[in-house]
Amino acid sequence: MKIILLGAPGAGKGTQAAYITKALNIPAISTGDIIRNALKSGSELGKKAKSYMNEGKLVPDEIVIDIIKERLKEDDCKNGFILDGFPRTIAQAEALDSMGVEIDKVVDLEVDEDLIIRRLTGRRVCKDCGSSFHMSMNTPKNEGICDNCGGTLIQRKDDQLSTIMERLSVYKEQTEPLKGYYEQKGKLAIVYGTNDIEQTGKDMLAAMKD
Ligand code: AP5
Ligand code: MG
Repeated sequence: MKIILLGAPGAGKGTQAAYITKALNIPAISTGDIIRNALKSGSELGKKAKSYMNEGKLVPDEIVIDIIKERLKEDDCKNGFILDGFPRTIAQAEALDSMGVEIDKVVDLEVDEDLIIRRLTGRRVCKDCGSSFHMSMNTPKNEGICDNCGGTLIQRKDDQLSTIMERLSVYKEQTEPLKGYYEQKGKLAIVYGTNDIEQTGKDMLAAMKD
């Protein structure tokens, strides 16, 4: 299955991508994670993307489209994949179409803005594997330590309140129009992402089968 996860910052895309990847045994591809890893390694891509990401703006389309083009050529994508955070503009969606990628379903995770802000201000991520936790809503077994790999949990640079507000406004302006784009193609499913992680995961799997 080829799935796109749509949704505002903090809607739970990364958390659900981790759930679905286990359930369907297909890779989850997060452009955000790929760019953060490039930033950490100090690569050319990281240098180009740094200021956009830290300010909560979108990295230019041509950079992100190239990342996805390369990633989808890899062997593990043969039986499908979950795209978390791509496409994020109409131009990115059109680029995906012109690569000949046939998407089965676009699942849009809907969460109210006040809950999004609580989720993002309390989020902590693993500095090594990128897994997401929350200080009160999705706590790790040992405080400050990643359940998956034992790495240290840190706050993302773009999870400061002012940057969160910028990301939300960028989402409304540039990414939300994708709902209409995929609805017209008959591919959009809407799932409310306010339940706990397990229930939301089940709702998403059900929406993919419809
Ligand atoms: P990206 O990393 O994709 O960030 P985002 O879209 O802002 O989304 P987040 O990762 O913040 O939220 P999420 O929906 O994954 O939520 P999570 O599961 O962590 O992109 C970052 C930046 O990279 C962009 O701003 C841009 O600069 C650049 N970029 C990336 N892709 C790009 C593209 N295609 N084009 C251009 N630029 C691009 O959950 C949030 C919190 O809530 C966590 O603490 C989690 O534990 C908790 N939580 C989640 N679900 C639940 C639940 N059901 N119950 C309780 N707690 C929950
Ligand atoms: Mg994420």
